[in-house]
Amino acid sequence: MNQTVYPVSAEWRQRAYVDAEAYARLYAQSLSDPEGFWREQAQRLDWIRPFTQVKDTSFDEADFGIRWFADGSLNIAANCLDRHLETQGDVPAILWAGDDPAESRTITYRELHAEVCRFANVLKAKGVRRGDRVTIYMPMIPEAAMAMLACARIGAIHSVVFAGFSPESLAGRVTDCDSSVIITADEGLRGGRKIPLKANVDEALGHCTACATVIVVRRTGGPVTMVPGRDHWYHELRESVPADCPAVEMGAEDPLFILYTSGSTGKPKGVLHTTGGYLLWAALTHHVVFDYKPGEIYWCAADIGWVTGHSYIVYGPLANGATTVMFEGVPTYPDFSRFWQVVDQFGVNIFYTAPTAIRALMREGDEWVRKASRSSLRLLGSVGEPINPEAWEWYYSVVGERRCPIMDTWWQTETGGHMITPLPGAIPLKPGSASRPFFGVQPQVVDPEGRVLEGAVEGNLVIADSWPGQMRTVWGDHERFFQTYFSTYPGKYFTGDGCRRDADGDYWITGRVDDVINVSGHRMGTAEVESALVAHAKVAEAAVVGMPHDIKGQGIYAYVTLNANEEGDDALRAELVRWVRHEIGPIATPDVIQFAPALPKTRSGKIMRRILRKIAEDAVDQLGDISTLADPGVVDHLVANRHRAI
Ligand code: PRX
Repeated sequence: MNQTVYPVSAEWRQRAYVDAEAYARLYAQSLSDPEGFWREQAQRLDWIRPFTQVKDTSFDEADFGIRWFADGSLNIAANCLDRHLETQGDVPAILWAGDDPAESRTITYRELHAEVCRFANVLKAKGVRRGDRVTIYMPMIPEAAMAMLACARIGAIHSVVFAGFSPESLAGRVTDCDSSVIITADEGLRGGRKIPLKANVDEALGHCTACATVIVVRRTGGPVTMVPGRDHWYHELRESVPADCPAVEMGAEDPLFILYTSGSTGKPKGVLHTTGGYLLWAALTHHVVFDYKPGEIYWCAADIGWVTGHSYIVYGPLANGATTVMFEGVPTYPDFSRFWQVVDQFGVNIFYTAPTAIRALMREGDEWVRKASRSSLRLLGSVGEPINPEAWEWYYSVVGERRCPIMDTWWQTETGGHMITPLPGAIPLKPGSASRPFFGVQPQVVDPEGRVLEGAVEGNLVIADSWPGQMRTVWGDHERFFQTYFSTYPGKYFTGDGCRRDADGDYWITGRVDDVINVSGHRMGTAEVESALVAHAKVAEAAVVGMPHDIKGQGIYAYVTLNANEEGDDALRAELVRWVRHEIGPIATPDVIQFAPALPKTRSGKIMRRILRKIAEDAVDQLGDISTLADPGVVDHLVANRHRAI
């Protein structure tokens, strides 16, 4: 166990908004007087109709409900744009770095405001009304953020689908929320490769009837087929609309967006976030955790297709009037120095990325980092998966030259923003620990029976009470929302994560305890990969588990039983990998496929995943009791034919 502790430096104690004393005081107040605390914090937003109610929440089945600031009204785009125009209209809102280092764009708040208004008018002209769903399937270009803000401006609900998802996955998401419009681009560009986004949309719409209109932003100029009446070029539509569009007054509890995320069972869930509480959470955490000061350049290197991009590229930073960097490319193109070149190019002060990227770059050696000055950097962030202490130390000493504190932020799509995280002026850092709860967050460690464990312990992580940024429902399935998060430990929100709390009260997230795996910081349900595999004509049965992976954190290990008379060879392996990529997308690419004549099952037919996980981890001496299996002999075959290391 890594016991290193890095105390808060004198410089950070001084400059940060929140020092140790303030953290202790504010955290205590946020729990003892949530009404007063959040009433005051919410003043950082511009309300159209001020709220009188603050917290109206219950996790109990009898009166279950989550409402914050419910009688207040506001508009998110107005909070992110209009209110900054007077004082900082000419300040860059977005600094964009293209995949090709020669390409970049600067968009001021005034320009972003005007373009969002136009985009909103385009949507209105296409019949989009308040409450309608709009799917955004876009590369990392400023128009993606504009499209999101345009929806928010007119009260439409956006559903961003990561551009790496397959047409099949896109179709499922469009159908689930019944989107009337898809906004896409001709092609995306990543690492020098083109991604046929519009062609994917065409294929997706072959599978579903929901969507009537496709708006296409021109990115590469590559060839696309436009279906008359359905498909329109954005650059043409925008010519015919005014650059002025009033921001619609939205209730604090009106929906802002849906974002699909994987769970342990079934299809991905449409996580729904609403307006007031979400924006407050994104803005406040961005302000306090990154200690964002006016004029600083802030870069979150996530994709807007994930919640990190929603909260920490778009909504949090823009609500705070920050300059947010948007990066189209990948960390390894044109070479392993790209991140640090962009840091120098824009003078980035705050940099936020995922452990998987850090590990991938660490492997390539320090020279790539040292090629760039990085002298502008003053704070680093990590998100998406547990960061191993070795990667933390490298990030700290090589990238940040031991002067930049690292904020290891634990949170989830469901939580809207940071939940457990250090604060740079307040909380000493321990490599690998997300450390302390943010204001208003009440983490508890429970045992499998739900007993709350005190002191230094390990168990499952729950949150005992509501916080403003919490998701409000699963789109179209409120019962599933309750069942998924509030029924395992009645009266508490169950995170799906395991964690350890040390004697100082610092939290160490140990990873998912359900059938969700975290591949390169991306959440993947094992059930999703299994159902993709069994959809193949030659597959009879499949069981998927996570396996340790040096770069990705976890890899995907699939046990596949073929139909009678099928031969499991390398050609079929390659075919199945292609098949899963086609069904879900490249992020679901299996790392290992082991053909198995049979899977270990209990006498009642339940697959013993515990055994499969241990074999995938190569921990075959820890299989435990296998005597309850219907046919214990199955295990010997699996062990003998296991794949050892990747
Ligand atoms: O297991 C935790 C892990 O990522 C999960 C949430 O994934 P997602 O909803 O896709 O959101 C990712 C971006 C917030 C969590 O249940 N996770 C996220 N951040 C951390 C983490 N695990 C450990 N440390 C973190 N900092």
